[in-house]
Amino acid sequence: MSASKLVKPAIEFKQSYLEALEEFHAEGRYEFIKLDDIKANFPAFVEDLNGGRRHLHKPFSDWAEPVPETALWMVKDREFIGSFIIRHRLNWHLEKWGGHVSFVIRPSMRGKGFGNKLLQKGMPFVSYLGIDRALITVDPKNTPAIKVIEFCGGQYQDETPKTEQFPARKRFWLDCS
Ligand SMILES: CC(C)(COP(=O)(O)OP(=O)(O)OC[C@H]1O[C@@H](n2cnc3c(N)ncnc32)[C@H](O)[C@@H]1OP(=O)(O)O)[C@@H](O)C(=O)NCCC(=O)NCCS
Repeated sequence: MSASKLVKPAIEFKQSYLEALEEFHAEGRYEFIKLDDIKANFPAFVEDLNGGRRHLHKPFSDWAEPVPETALWMVKDREFIGSFIIRHRLNWHLEKWGGHVSFVIRPSMRGKGFGNKLLQKGMPFVSYLGIDRALITVDPKNTPAIKVIEFCGGQYQDETPKTEQFPARKRFWLDCS
């Protein structure tokens, strides 16, 4: 059994990534990533993720300024466990709702300590990109995520109010120095 680690997205994790995507879809997440499309051309999907563009912003891409992203995958025993996305800077949308960092553990692997490990292991990459303080935003009712952020030293700032288009978000800052 190997330790979990963060790696660049790679085609060797295809099978477990596809299984994880089905789990994400079942909870209504990442529905804009079409299973059949990436199943048919997984290398292109991976190449695209490694290209540093703004894939996971797709629902907002028509009206928010594009921001370069770095995508990392948490893997263990050669299986995909979760994703860690770093936005290299904030735009007006990320400042209030998206933050610098987002992280997700596949549903079947939650509650086993991987969330804490993912943020802990991801922060040095955030720092490496030159970000001194990282903003993380979270649904006020998302207790597991808030616990992970606080476990990693996140400092609460405020709560962005709900708007017609966007839900309320608690904002936390993590010192990367
Ligand atoms: C948030 C998330 C990454 C946590 O991952 P995880 O692997 O379940 O987290 P862990 O197992 O490391 O648990 C972290 C803490 O949350 C607690 N926790 C986990 N699931 C919980 C639940 N359903 N209810 C309450 N607390 C919970 C754990 O007990 C732990 O607390 P502790 O450190 O005080 O013991 C995961 O729930 C997820 O992917 N959620 C969807 C995406 C998301 O919300 N991302 C964060 C915002 S960007």
